[in-house]
Amino acid sequence: MATEKTQFVCQSCGNVSPKWMGKCSNCNNWNTFVEEKHFAVKKGSANASLKQSNKPILLHEVQEDEEKRLQFADGELNRIFGNGLVLGSLVLFAGEPGIGKSTLMLQAALSMSENALYVSGEESEKQIKLRATRLNETSDKCYISTETCMNQLDSMIDTVKPRLIIVDSIQTVYSQNVDAIAGNISQIKECAQILLSIAKSRNIPIIIIGHINKEGNIAGPKILEHLVDTVIQFEGEKNTSLRIVRCLKNRFGNTNETAIYEMKENGLQANTNPSKVLLSHLTELRSGISIASACEGSRSYLVEVQSLVSSAVYGTPQRSTTGYDTRRLNMILAVLEKRCGFRLSIKDVFLNIAGGFHIEDTSIDLAVACSVLSSNEDIPIPYDIAIAGEIGLTGEIRPVQKIEKRLIEAEKMGLKRMIVSAYNKQDISTKPQIEIIYCNNVEQVFGAVFG
Ligand code: TYD
Ligand code: MG
Repeated sequence: MATEKTQFVCQSCGNVSPKWMGKCSNCNNWNTFVEEKHFAVKKGSANASLKQSNKPILLHEVQEDEEKRLQFADGELNRIFGNGLVLGSLVLFAGEPGIGKSTLMLQAALSMSENALYVSGEESEKQIKLRATRLNETSDKCYISTETCMNQLDSMIDTVKPRLIIVDSIQTVYSQNVDAIAGNISQIKECAQILLSIAKSRNIPIIIIGHINKEGNIAGPKILEHLVDTVIQFEGEKNTSLRIVRCLKNRFGNTNETAIYEMKENGLQANTNPSKVLLSHLTELRSGISIASACEGSRSYLVEVQSLVSSAVYGTPQRSTTGYDTRRLNMILAVLEKRCGFRLSIKDVFLNIAGGFHIEDTSIDLAVACSVLSSNEDIPIPYDIAIAGEIGLTGEIRPVQKIEKRLIEAEKMGLKRMIVSAYNKQDISTKPQIEIIYCNNVEQVFGAVFG
């Protein structure tokens, strides 16, 4: 008979306590403890460990599989996973509700040339079929199931023999080992453990879809992040069609890889030329606009930085950003004030990265500074200049990574000049067509841009 254990689990951080507590001693949140019953798991069941035997073996004796990665028809997805999905890996695919997670994953399952199993606790079979019809895709290899008990997954695998499993979503599946409703932190943890063990023992990649909460945390507060091999985040503004798939963690590849998709009437379409969508293609020269060369993962693209600087209406000036870190903007404004003498502390500054894109790459600092000053001085920057450089606190222009890739992208998009840090000179071995302007500090840049 299974032994039963009662415990209290904080729904915010996963902290476990034998007694109920009003305030969690770990995350300090109030009223987050929920009583849950755990059933001891039989040894050798799904929750068993990943090891084949308990005898240590030499690393070089471990057998490698010949075909290590699963390839999707969608090249962008392959790139995100680091040239295909490693067999036996567990992936968390997270994003806000309604962003398009189910759509992209169903597309991936439908495009497989081998059996795929799509387990959905969110939609009925008919609804999944409707979605597939909308996507205009059919497949005789894609199995669907609405069974949400993860203890049944093993038998489903025996029948279907899938090469890929997608679980949509971790918040809707449950395990009989835990007496709590689906979506509860203990259920999420337990189901993820079961999936991990299945992925590793059967060498099948499993993609878990997870909703993220309003704060942007991967719900089941971050507990899954360390457990899985790869974390992919799906971002984008719901009112625009642009979607960004970002790799946050990858045990088998490059992190910071990004891919851009567009949500169309018949599903998500990969965009292999992001610069084209991220630039707004204004024909008329306007002040406050600069073109930044950004780079995330192995891809470089151009983005348009837009600023509006106006006299502050209230005593405390407003600083508002979309797609860029406000603290970083404040730092740049302070550098411009202290090092270059621009009186920006009495101005409202609004900054926007066109296209609803969020940029974490600090190499767009210099483009941000140029855009702010262009608006402040009301002098437009020619649209044929790309800018790449990080600004240091002393006003020096620091070098950026992957400079050659950036130059190629700017050239491809028809730009004529690119402003880069003088420290980047040594990294450029090929002679590109585009004119390179090297600068040491912010003053030199302004001379080149506005001079
Ligand atoms: P969905 O994949 O259901 O989101 P998630 O699984 O992340 O909750 O996507 C839902 C949205 O996508 C919905 O607003 C409709 C839109 N959509 C399209 O625009 N085109 C399509 O072909 C599909 C299938 C959905
Ligand atoms: Mg969904």
